[in-house]
Amino acid sequence: MKILGIETSCDETAAAVVEDGHKLLGNAVASSMDLHVKYGGVVPEIAARSHIEAIQPVIHQALDDANCTWDDIDGIAVTYGAGLGGSLLIGVMTARTLAITQDKPLYGINHVEAHIYANFLTETSLPDYQLPTKQPEFPMLAIIVSGGHSQLVLFKDHFDYQLLGQTHDDAIGEAFDKVAKMLGLSYPGGPSVAEIAKKGDPNSFQLPKAKVGRYDFSFSGPKTAVLRLAQSQIGENYDFPSTKLPERLSDAQKANIAASFQRIAVETIVDKAKLAFEEFSPKSVVIAGGVAANQELRRQLTEAIPLPLTFPDLKLCTDNGAMVATLGCFKASRSQPKSDPYSLAVEPSLSM
Ligand code: KG4
Ligand code: ZN
Repeated sequence: MKILGIETSCDETAAAVVEDGHKLLGNAVASSMDLHVKYGGVVPEIAARSHIEAIQPVIHQALDDANCTWDDIDGIAVTYGAGLGGSLLIGVMTARTLAITQDKPLYGINHVEAHIYANFLTETSLPDYQLPTKQPEFPMLAIIVSGGHSQLVLFKDHFDYQLLGQTHDDAIGEAFDKVAKMLGLSYPGGPSVAEIAKKGDPNSFQLPKAKVGRYDFSFSGPKTAVLRLAQSQIGENYDFPSTKLPERLSDAQKANIAASFQRIAVETIVDKAKLAFEEFSPKSVVIAGGVAANQELRRQLTEAIPLPLTFPDLKLCTDNGAMVATLGCFKASRSQPKSDPYSLAVEPSLSM
């Protein structure tokens, strides 16, 4: 069974073909990131307009790379939430139209759930992918760390899961992005913070960890603590504007702040993941979402959890169509409800 997956929830226009829920045949991504960099974040209108331009070529590229024609495709999966309304709309309207004109079943996909399914890809005909050798087993603990979400989810089986906890405020990726802005680093902030953190001492500053529910997170406190720390480092008080911090901080101060923030943010996730691991004894632990690309997170988790961890290939951590197609394969093969191509609506605040 071959499923075409379509993803347009943020600034990546992506499509992929996945066979039987484990083999990646074609994976195309066009990002409008370059257009957003000068604004320091994704501009929804620009993202939506870029999706309109890119969606058809990206779908054709994915089909071509997979050596597929429409006759080979057994269904279409599309992200319908969570995400930016205008962006989601382009993917959903395209998928609905294709489902009708090509006469294929349509599966609406939850973006956050899809991120987890990037871990089920174990084989590919494409070059340059490092994939896990086997699919995760159940019960599976999923650690979701992206720009929009920070969640711990326990899966008893496919489509049978329990949300253990989540962030009360900012997502971890969002906190990385905001800290990057305070330090004058380029967007997206996660990779920029991780890069300069390599030159800093992670123990130079002791930032506070938020005290929230057993499996919950909070990243707004550490983010504010970074602001206060930066202001005090340059000898200014709390009303000093954050936009002027980058020109006053030295490179060494920036590197130390970045390294200290990264350590605390990562430790917050790892502490809770370890607690959940001890309580629920899962057979596998997977990590998903853009921040799964963070090497410090991978290192600390590997140290804390006595199981071989599953990480998606770096290209499959950030938004892509492959994760959407993979979840679509499982929906199709396990007789999950199809979506109506005449009415599937976007749900910008969809949760797990
Ligand atoms: O999953 P994703 O592509 O989009 C959402 O669904 O949110 O995640 C994007 C987030 C951004 O906040 C970005 O800064 C963060 O992932 N990110 C990282 C790294 N690479 C991307 N954060 C920390 N370290 C990284 N290496
Ligand atoms: Zn995402």
